[in-house]
Amino acid sequence: MNADGDATTPPREDVADSPGAQHLRTGGVLPEHSTTPTLSSAVSGSGEDGIVPDIFSGDFARNPWPVLRSLREADPGVHRVATPDGPPAWLVTRFDTVRQCLIDENLSTNVKFANGSDYRGFPVPAPLDVFQTSDPGDIARLRRVLVTELAPRHVGEWGGRAAQLIEPTLRQLDGIREFDFVDRVAVPLPALVLSELLGLPPNARDQLLAWANSTMRPAATPRARDTLASMQQIIRAVIDHSHQSEDQTMLTRLARPGNLSTAELAGVVFYMLFVWYEVLIDLLAGTVLTLSTRPAQLAELLTRPDLSSAVDELLRYLSPQVLAGPRFAVTDLEIDGQPIAAGQTVLPCLASANHDPQKFDRPDEFDINRNSPPHLALGYGTHACVGTALIRPIATAMIGKLYSQWPRLRVLDDEQIPWRSGFRHRGPLTLPVKPA
Ligand code: HEM
Repeated sequence: MNADGDATTPPREDVADSPGAQHLRTGGVLPEHSTTPTLSSAVSGSGEDGIVPDIFSGDFARNPWPVLRSLREADPGVHRVATPDGPPAWLVTRFDTVRQCLIDENLSTNVKFANGSDYRGFPVPAPLDVFQTSDPGDIARLRRVLVTELAPRHVGEWGGRAAQLIEPTLRQLDGIREFDFVDRVAVPLPALVLSELLGLPPNARDQLLAWANSTMRPAATPRARDTLASMQQIIRAVIDHSHQSEDQTMLTRLARPGNLSTAELAGVVFYMLFVWYEVLIDLLAGTVLTLSTRPAQLAELLTRPDLSSAVDELLRYLSPQVLAGPRFAVTDLEIDGQPIAAGQTVLPCLASANHDPQKFDRPDEFDINRNSPPHLALGYGTHACVGTALIRPIATAMIGKLYSQWPRLRVLDDEQIPWRSGFRHRGPLTLPVKPA
């Protein structure tokens, strides 16, 4: 009998990473070694202008690996791609090159270097755009303040606190036979945890949850980017509160004179609630989907006192943040022999780097015993994720709590899960689960 208690079928993890298994799991995406047009079209389908069209569809988000493999393999591994918003950009796909791009001083995150008709990134109004418009010195100072605030010694207790916050949400679902995990758990939990971490006042928490409900759920009609005005109102109220409050919260500490200016704080709060919040949702939902088909790895994982390395493998394997933020060429340059003109846009593809066989053995397999070099799921270099110290304890608390409450948690019909056709991010849109 296998770990699922089924005497006849092999455990899902035996087949889950075999060629073609992605096809089974993801409801119609082509098998990895297929020679059918979808696989090859990523490269050979480029039009006369040499632009690879439409690689950021829902199917791509669900199973980007065959397309990314073909792009990595086609020299020079740097390709002109169409973006969902229209204008093209250069997609960098190989591990070493992606990592190099993330530390190249001639590739700036500052949109002032965008010069021409390339993709410029998600348009964010001032003052929420600090990460796209500040000079390197200001970004470095801002990051120093955040790093101090998010240092392990400050966030050390966060695992325990996150576990406490999770409990009531899970308890509410006790006795329900089936529910959508994204809707009932993955969307509200990160909102709760980040609200608590920042120390948002209660009315702002409610507004944040209402905002998340209106943009992140499958049936949501407004797109997140269309709700920036209401997001800005919430942030303004939160910052006013932090200036007046005597409380000791992360927000009031960040707002202290000498730390962040009001504009910088607005940018940080915005990114935390708008971008990093979404990646946490994707990580959580992706984790449940991944472990659902790998009961033996799940069982082994739950015996471990420390889940950090398993969380890293989840981050590498899922790569919920597919792309780093856009980089703009400060000067004419070459990336792996590909000329890039000053002002053009470069998109370092973290997901592709994390599945590069030159760096990782059997890269498309999920393996909690993997002993591999560091991945790029949290970026690298000057803009690497400042939330790193926080993500591992929060993810660990979530995984631990989830499976101690529902050890038999399974995704129903995992072959038909729709994925959000994210551009920068990827994650399941809905996840029907059976908790017991
Ligand atoms: C699973 C969750 C998360 C993932 C996968 C993730 C991933 C990333 C990545 C890939 C970058 C680099 C982007 C680039 O080079 O353009 C980044 C930057 C950053 N992240 Fe995270 N992140 C997560 C959660 C968080 C959280 C919870 C916080 C804060 C509490 C956070 C704070 C930051 C900050 C401040 C930056 C630096 C931005 C910059 O300097 O431009 N992240 N993150």
